[in-house]
Amino acid sequence: CGIVGYVGAKPAAPILVDGLARLEYRGYDSAGVAVLGPSEIRLHRDAVRVRELEAGLPKRFGGKTGIGHTRWATHGVPSQRNAHPQLSADGRVAVVHNGIIDNAAQLRAELQADGVELTSDTDTEVLAHLIARASEETTLEQAVLTALDRVEGTYGIAVLDQAHPDRIVVARNGSPIILGLGDREMHVASDTAALVRYTKQVVHLDDGELATLRADGYQTFTRDARTTKTAVTVDWDASDYGTDGHEHFMHKEIAEQPDAVRRILKGRLDERFHTVRLGGLEMDARELREFRRVKILGCGSAYYAGQAGAQFIEEIARIPADAEPASEFRYRNPVIEKDTLYVAVSQSGETYDTLVAVQELKRKGGRVIGLVNAVGSSIARECDGGVYLHAGPEIAVASTKALTNMLVGFALLGLHLGRIRDVSPADGRRLIQALQRLPEQIEAIVGEEEHLAAVAKELAAASSLFFVGRTRGFPVAREGAQKLKEISYRHAEAYQTSELKHGPLALVGPELPTVAIVPDDELLERNLGALQEITARSGPLTVVTHDGVDLGVEPAHVITVPKSEPELDPLLLTIPLQLLAYHAALTLGHDVDKPRNLAKSVTVE
Ligand code: G6P
Repeated sequence: CGIVGYVGAKPAAPILVDGLARLEYRGYDSAGVAVLGPSEIRLHRDAVRVRELEAGLPKRFGGKTGIGHTRWATHGVPSQRNAHPQLSADGRVAVVHNGIIDNAAQLRAELQADGVELTSDTDTEVLAHLIARASEETTLEQAVLTALDRVEGTYGIAVLDQAHPDRIVVARNGSPIILGLGDREMHVASDTAALVRYTKQVVHLDDGELATLRADGYQTFTRDARTTKTAVTVDWDASDYGTDGHEHFMHKEIAEQPDAVRRILKGRLDERFHTVRLGGLEMDARELREFRRVKILGCGSAYYAGQAGAQFIEEIARIPADAEPASEFRYRNPVIEKDTLYVAVSQSGETYDTLVAVQELKRKGGRVIGLVNAVGSSIARECDGGVYLHAGPEIAVASTKALTNMLVGFALLGLHLGRIRDVSPADGRRLIQALQRLPEQIEAIVGEEEHLAAVAKELAAASSLFFVGRTRGFPVAREGAQKLKEISYRHAEAYQTSELKHGPLALVGPELPTVAIVPDDELLERNLGALQEITARSGPLTVVTHDGVDLGVEPAHVITVPKSEPELDPLLLTIPLQLLAYHAALTLGHDVDKPRNLAKSVTVE
């Protein structure tokens, strides 16, 4: 799940452990480090938290080159022997690995037939044996290539070899590897979170690429040739990875949203021509005008943001637009159209399903741009251009500020596409002013936390809930239900309000609370009708709406948000739902930031 590595003049172990601590947010069940001692690889690993791993480090654990890992079990239960690093039989080679080796069973059988005694249940162990064997006769780099030739599947790996104490060799295929360039020292990690304390200059490996890291520099290469890379500067600070006095990352990230929105808007609003500037798209107005359709791809919350984005784009720019889970799109051999603008949306930029969807699109000649938070991430690099979200690092598994900035990103994109077609300057101005008001409006909603916490406490008592919304409100309902499910483990289901009477109404009754999204817009009357239907069946109601709306019923709870322009209302309507989920999870005593069974970014198949 998390990889770190260090080569330089300092003792490696403390740096490795610190790096692992910064990757804890991704979730893991075991941790381990290996360093090169004078004559042997020193190994310390177990099914423990990083803190305990550190406390248990042997006194003599010196070494200036080392690798570390946090593991999330795929092959084999969490245990000491299944934790990484994995060693070769002679103890000379150590490997840490993210990803899944698909032909591990076959390789294990072959090694066993050759008399190798396997000491773990992992797929990773085979790599250690294969590399050790190959390196007896050649360089470590060549040995890694030879071993990887045998492997089918995905990997990011880091390798230590006692015979080459000056280096770490790393390789990537489908699982991120990022080099951190230091001053006479080199770092490596699977996530920039582990690097920013040491350096801001990073190099992302591409699939099929390897690198040798030594204290005095690095060299990247593929099977056939050396490659040349450009370092990028990470603009995230180590302090961005702290909770900053909040009890949880999720709480901090909710509170940060006004600033996150200011950052994504910065420098992009053109108040003179009532439009937006999106230089990162790398497509001029002429090219953009050619598109007849927009298709948005993402997973989880990013997909729901995409649904809201599609509605915004279609409404403003009058281009047919829709969203689909990237995880589905990639499996169904979709028709790729030349005049469709594809948009991949992702916080991490590393979600494997989304990445593969982008690669498939490109293979078939599709034009794809990214709405991505992590600068230089795999999806960002794979896309033809894009809009960076600038939400800053998001640590909590449940997405909040990144999701909000995705919605703003779609608004910017929709406005841009609209203003080069037939959106009037007046409409451009109206929306730009609405965007500028967002930060303060979000602040006002977050300021209502006490009220939202009280509502959440009651909702948490129900074992099942409905979230309903219509058109613009439907993605809001879906995201609200998702958030509640993710961290409170309550069953929550989202429906179009319009669909209630076509089935789900059968379930409505005193035991099933409904959270209804009821913006003060052109569909208000229709939504009020649905509130009547729910109330008539004694369904407890929580209504998220705007000030001054006469609901015609007396809901158990009313939550109001400031009014924006109708197209941007969905963005503000999602904010109270974040706090409802947060406080429901707190009430139920769950680990808010690290919900069970979920990972922040799913970089495997
Ligand atoms: C995982 C997370 C979700 C997230 C999704 C997409 O499933 O648990 O919270 O929405 O990945 O992540 P991305 O980084 O691509 O936005």
